[in-house]
Amino acid sequence: MENPFKYGTIVEEPYFTDRVEELKNIKIFFSSANHLILISPRRFGKTSLILKAIKELKRPFVFVNVQKAVSTADLAALIVKEALQNYPLARMKSFLKHFRIVPTITINPTTNAIDFSFIPSANSLILLEDALELLERLSTDKNRMIVVFDEFQEILQLEKGIDKRLRAIMQEQQNINYVFLGSQESMMTAIFEKVKSPFYHFGQLMYLKKIPFKDFKDYIVAGLSPLIKKNAAEAAEEILSITDCHPYYTQQLSAVVWDLLCYEKIKEGEDPVEKAVSQLIAVHDLDYERLWTNFGLTDRRILKDIVNTGKLSSKDGFPVSTTYSAATRLMKAGYLIRTDDSYEIEDPFFKQWITKNRI
Ligand SMILES: Nc1ncnc2c1ncn2[C@@H]1O[C@H](COP(=O)(O)OP(=O)(O)OP(=O)(O)O)[C@@H](O)[C@H]1O
Ligand SMILES: [Mg+2]
Repeated sequence: MENPFKYGTIVEEPYFTDRVEELKNIKIFFSSANHLILISPRRFGKTSLILKAIKELKRPFVFVNVQKAVSTADLAALIVKEALQNYPLARMKSFLKHFRIVPTITINPTTNAIDFSFIPSANSLILLEDALELLERLSTDKNRMIVVFDEFQEILQLEKGIDKRLRAIMQEQQNINYVFLGSQESMMTAIFEKVKSPFYHFGQLMYLKKIPFKDFKDYIVAGLSPLIKKNAAEAAEEILSITDCHPYYTQQLSAVVWDLLCYEKIKEGEDPVEKAVSQLIAVHDLDYERLWTNFGLTDRRILKDIVNTGKLSSKDGFPVSTTYSAATRLMKAGYLIRTDDSYEIEDPFFKQWITKNRI
């Protein structure tokens, strides 16, 4: 029997659950000529959701992770390389002629992998313009290409003025739906919601939330049932109470519980979920210890407060501004996430570790 839970990579059926409304809305959205901005904390399922929508629509697409690029020229090369994955080189050849700066294309004869680069001294914004122009030429108005920029907020690090230039190019294009994914909420909203930003109101903003309790519970019960028929619902509820419906951590904990039930002996009266949590904490113990040691006192105080109350407290005479700026920094670094009006420790096992060791 294969583990029915999957975590860490993009998920498709049968590992994909819920998101029915979101999927429907995104698909409808792609039938328009507009652009989409999808924001959520790390590992909530942005990439899986978008790729599922694109696959179901059978639309051509190019997926670019901006985080992989270390310069504008690199980003341009990445765009072309990703396009090469989905379009045969023969078809692209005539379009590549339009490049104002001649690219170098190398093909590994054993693996057939294609590499693509520009000479480093080239004017990088011209390269970017030509790369996006290539996408527009490959696309048609009948079957518009969907171009996804993952971790789009990273774009601002590449070069001053790049956002202005990108926006200028993109708004001229007719045959592309752009999708901007991002996990840094404050930076993404600054890009798309600040009046002075070139990307102000460039597309429809959508926030992806966690997976609802009921759907996730049904999914976990279905996965665990063959191994614990009687107590599957109980175990599913316990898993969700620990992970608080976080998509990635829920799948991770469920997968470990499943392995325990399948391959290890669970003693009479022993709780498989509790055992799985202990295992996960033990695996990460050293990382958590190191992490905790590297946090300053303000950070530790905030993390403890959030573990205990889910709120930022301003007691103990600490200035409110210090608390909030530290919380913002912890959010940016991915240790905290904000859900509606409360804060959470991103990693529920780190939360358990803090509870166990420090408070
Ligand atoms: N619809 C879903 N059903 C079940 N599990 C899901 C779903 N979406 C995401 N997950 C779980 O969350 C994990 C992360 O998903 P994904 O990589 O799509 O998220 P992401 O938001 O793009 O993450 P990142 O911020 O790292 O780019 C998956 O490996 C899977 O375990
Ligand atoms: Mg992703």
